[in-house]
Amino acid sequence: MATGLNRRNLLLTAGVAAAIGEPGPLLAQNATAESIAKAPTDASGVPNSEKKINIVTLRDLEVDAQKVMAPFGFAYVSGGAGDEWTMRENQAAFNRWVINADFMNGTGSADTTTTLLGTKLSYPVIAAPIGNQGSVHAQADLPNVKGTNAAGTLYCVSSVSQLSVEEIASAAEGPKWFQLYIPRDPGFAREMLQRAKAAGYKAIVVTADVNVTSNRERSMRLHGAALPNLKMGNAPKTPGVTGSAMDMKGNMDWKDIEFCRKESGLPVVIKSILSPTNAQQALNAGCSGIWLSNHGGRQLDNMAAPMTTLPAVASVVKGKVPIIIDGGIYRGQDVFRAIALGATAVALGRPLLYASALGGAQGVQAAHTHLKNELTMVMRLAGTSAIKNITRDFVARAEGSNGHV
Ligand code: FNR
Repeated sequence: MATGLNRRNLLLTAGVAAAIGEPGPLLAQNATAESIAKAPTDASGVPNSEKKINIVTLRDLEVDAQKVMAPFGFAYVSGGAGDEWTMRENQAAFNRWVINADFMNGTGSADTTTTLLGTKLSYPVIAAPIGNQGSVHAQADLPNVKGTNAAGTLYCVSSVSQLSVEEIASAAEGPKWFQLYIPRDPGFAREMLQRAKAAGYKAIVVTADVNVTSNRERSMRLHGAALPNLKMGNAPKTPGVTGSAMDMKGNMDWKDIEFCRKESGLPVVIKSILSPTNAQQALNAGCSGIWLSNHGGRQLDNMAAPMTTLPAVASVVKGKVPIIIDGGIYRGQDVFRAIALGATAVALGRPLLYASALGGAQGVQAAHTHLKNELTMVMRLAGTSAIKNITRDFVARAEGSNGHV
C-alpha cells in the first residue's frame, strides 16, 4: 500500500484488534477506544455503525454501503471471480421463472415460519457463512450474528472469522451452525469440530469449493491479493497441533464427510453442490443437508446458478434432506421461487454484509425484517398461507426460457 504500512496491520481493524486482545497499530497510533466507539468508522476506515436504517428494497443496500465502506472491504465483498459472469447469472436465473398467482382462494394471512433440520425459523432465510467480516464492520461478525438471531433465524459462522467459534456462540441467543473449511492438519480439523459441538452449534457445514484461491480481480487490482489479510479468530489450542484456519485441505473427498460427522457428533451439511450427481453422492455419504451454492460467483466463474440446477437436484433429493440455496437473493419473490422449486430455505450473503456496514446489528435485523415482510406480501399476492403450501405449481418457466437463456 502507498503508506508503506504492513498490509496485515492496515487491515487489522480496531474492533477486531480489541476482540482478540491485541492493540491494532492504527488504533494505537491514531485514536482512543472511546473515539472509536463513537465514530462511524474505525481507524482503518472500516464502518463501526450501530443505528436504525430504513430499507425500501435490499437492492439499494450495495450502493448505500459503498459510500460508507473502506475501498478494500467493498471490493472484497462486492466482487466475484473472473468475468463475474456467474455472480450476475445468480440473479438473472431467478427471472427465468414466473410466479403463478391464485388470488381467488380465500386466504387472508400468510405465516412465514418454518423448520430447518429441527430448528424453528421465523422465515425460510438464514445467514450464509461469511469469513473476514472484519473488513465489513469493526465488530466483525457481531452485528451479523446479533441481527440475524434477533430476527428469529439461523446464523452460520465461518471458520475464517476474526472471532473464535466460542466468542460468536456467546454473542447472541439463537440457532447457529458452524461452517468449516477443513484444515490441512487433521488434528486442527478434529479440534474445530469438537469445539463447535461444545460451543452449542447445531450442525457442521462443509464448504467444498475453496480448494484453491480464485481470481477475484477487484480485490487483486486494489490491494494485490484476492483476500484480505486479517487475523484469524480460530487458532489451534490442542498441544502439539499446528495450522491456521486459512491453511485448508486442498484435496477433499466424500470420506471427509464421515470424518466430520464422527468427530463432531453433529449433522453435516455439504455446501457447494450444484449437480444432481453430486447431490446423490452427498446422500450416499450421509449428509443431512445439501446447500446449493457457487460461493456467490466468487470461486469458479462460469458455473451455473443454483436456481438453474435446483429442479434437477430436488428431483434426486426427493425431500430426504433439506435443500438450502444461496446466490443473488434480494427479493421476497426470489425466496418464494426457490421454495416453490424445492428449496427448504435460502441463505443471504452480501445483503447482510451491506446492512451490517450501514447499521450494525440493527441494520442486519432491519434487512431480515424487510425481506420477511416482502415474502409475506408475495405469499399473500400469490395466494398461499404457509411455507409448506408453496409448491411447484406456483412457478412456471418464463416464456421463451428453457432455463438456460
Ligand atoms: C463468502 N462466502 C463464504 N462461504 C463459505 O462457505 N465460507 C466463507 O467463509 C465465505 N466467505 C465469504 C465472504 C464474502 C465477503 C462473501 C460475499 C461470500 C460465500 C457465502 O457463504 C454465500 O455462498 C454467498 O455469499 C451467497 O451469495 P450472495 O448472497 O452474496 O449473492
